Amino acid sequence: MDPAEAVDRAVARYGAEAPRLLAMLHAVQASLGCVPAEALDRLAAALRLTRAEVEGSASFYHLLHAKPHGQYEILFSDNVIDHMAGKPELMRYFCDELLIQPGKQSEDGLVFVDSTSDIGLADQAPGALVNGVLVPSLDRNRLDLIANLIREQRPFAQWPQTLFEVPDNVRKGGPLVGEPFAPGAGLRRALAMGPDAILAELEAASLRGRGGAGYKTAAKWGSCRKAQGRAHYVVCNADEGEPGTFKDRVLLASHADLVFEGMTIAARVLGAKSGYLYLRGEYRCLADRLRTVRTRRRATNLLGKDILGTPGFDFDVEIVLGAGAYICGEESALIESLEGKPGRPRNRPPYPDTQGYLGQPTVVNNVETYACAARILERGGAWFAGLGTRDSTGTKLLSVSGDCKRPGVYEYPFGVTLRQVLADCGAQQPQAVQVGGPSGTCVPWREFDRRVCFEDVPSAGAMMVFSRSRDMFEVARNFTHFFAHESCGFCTPCRVGTSLLRNTMDKLAAGKGSAYDMERMQMLMRVLQSMSHCGLGHTAAKPVVQTMQVFPEAYERRLRNLSYEPSFDLDAALETARLITRRDDEWAHIVSEEP
Ligand SMILES: Cc1cc2nc3c(=O)[nH]c(=O)nc-3n(C[C@H](O)[C@H](O)[C@H](O)COP(=O)(O)O)c2cc1C
Ligand code: SF4
Repeated sequence: MDPAEAVDRAVARYGAEAPRLLAMLHAVQASLGCVPAEALDRLAAALRLTRAEVEGSASFYHLLHAKPHGQYEILFSDNVIDHMAGKPELMRYFCDELLIQPGKQSEDGLVFVDSTSDIGLADQAPGALVNGVLVPSLDRNRLDLIANLIREQRPFAQWPQTLFEVPDNVRKGGPLVGEPFAPGAGLRRALAMGPDAILAELEAASLRGRGGAGYKTAAKWGSCRKAQGRAHYVVCNADEGEPGTFKDRVLLASHADLVFEGMTIAARVLGAKSGYLYLRGEYRCLADRLRTVRTRRRATNLLGKDILGTPGFDFDVEIVLGAGAYICGEESALIESLEGKPGRPRNRPPYPDTQGYLGQPTVVNNVETYACAARILERGGAWFAGLGTRDSTGTKLLSVSGDCKRPGVYEYPFGVTLRQVLADCGAQQPQAVQVGGPSGTCVPWREFDRRVCFEDVPSAGAMMVFSRSRDMFEVARNFTHFFAHESCGFCTPCRVGTSLLRNTMDKLAAGKGSAYDMERMQMLMRVLQSMSHCGLGHTAAKPVVQTMQVFPEAYERRLRNLSYEPSFDLDAALETARLITRRDDEWAHIVSEEP
């Protein structure tokens, strides 16, 4: 297929509307193996956008590429948990088997191998995305199988399905992931009581958002409802990109009815007709399951027109696929992405509840928040408020991974101690737990009696366990690589600051660190925290700050006893010039004084 035909097909399928640009870019890449320059021009003409606007979007997302990646694309997940499970060695082994280099298409154009940020499989690490589909629990045997399938050029559709099986790994269930749900049970009660009473029920439940900040859901829905606009929108944030988090994967894979139901209840409150479930590109393999649930709900009048016989209550949900950008989890960046643009955070205020999707009032909530809302409307706010602590009601899904015997999803009432979770998951000699992902809290062993709740250690869901054998400096270094890779580049303090922080950590790792570098990192942290445009930049230095405080020895043993040590060896860099000019004047050497 040529680029013109691929674009025309995509436009015919999605309509010539700019907000559908991301879907069209996905479609073009599926047809051509990449999004070439000719396609950008044709898309720009069809959507009446500038070439720069289309290219800006196409080049922003990690999972879209301008050059072909071969018939088989294998992207190894690069989270610290994948590293601990042997990712670097396994990736090297795989590349050697196929005689290829990471980041380069093979000579025969068959295969492309590279690393990518966390893909939501920390409970089954190391994992990879193979042609966009999740493949968990990699080891040499599974990689040999993949290498053989590639060598024999087996069409991807004919690969053994066992490779792609991703168990939920629910280790401890509760109302969200452990108890049956009759679709419509929450919605029927909601429709019977009406929008004001729904808000009162959420208020009584004291439900707080599960995406991180813990904002009160009733307040968010209430203010969005009051906001004036041509239309109101309901958006589900299923971008789950925080390294170590995978609980939304499980909700979407096996409990999607709860999520759709929560969105439909929100629509009832807001008077919204359209909802969007923004699914991270790495979870593309879940889209079909979600569509199946949606079809069933449409067939039983839980979605569609006059829902459950309520005249004028029309609502449906579109599933929109992201394309690999952690920043799109930030709600205003997510909305930009929904509009087909690069996912760069907006200035706030205005907040989405008054000016969100297409400038209209929009509620954005996490997957788990909608699931909680559905249960609350089914069982009542008082029931929910009876679980957890005073300021953190209900249960919380934790994604537990790392050095433990039973990684997976655990559902606890808020307020559970870290010690309890560690005992339940079979943690092995834990020295620290990273709660809430790289931007969260690093809790050392002496504080394991602290509790998971907004009053103590808040968490959007991730809980990575590190045993005494782990080097916490390397953990922080991995996180600095993550933030530098995922910084969207919009503001200088974060774009430059995250790169400098990563480079300085690499310098320390190479044994070239000095007291000067430690001071410089402190300065970078202050700049990042105070001058960044959004939450990514504000928290990007947190892993370094915390590990420096809690594990100073992990840094000190790497420092050379110098006030300053350059990372760049100028004298060695001049060696090539000396060879070319055939001059090696003794006086032209730069000699550094050893301490
Ligand atoms: C860098 C960054 C990444 C985020 N990623 C996510 C995410 O993957 N999922 C999510 O629900 N919220 C994420 N958030 C929080 C959202 O901006 C937003 O607060 C949340 O979706 C609101 O939903 P809630 O009220 O249900 O918690 C992120 C925030 C930041 C700053
Ligand atoms: S802080 Fe970082 S991620 Fe946020 S807008 Fe600035 S560059 Fe982008």
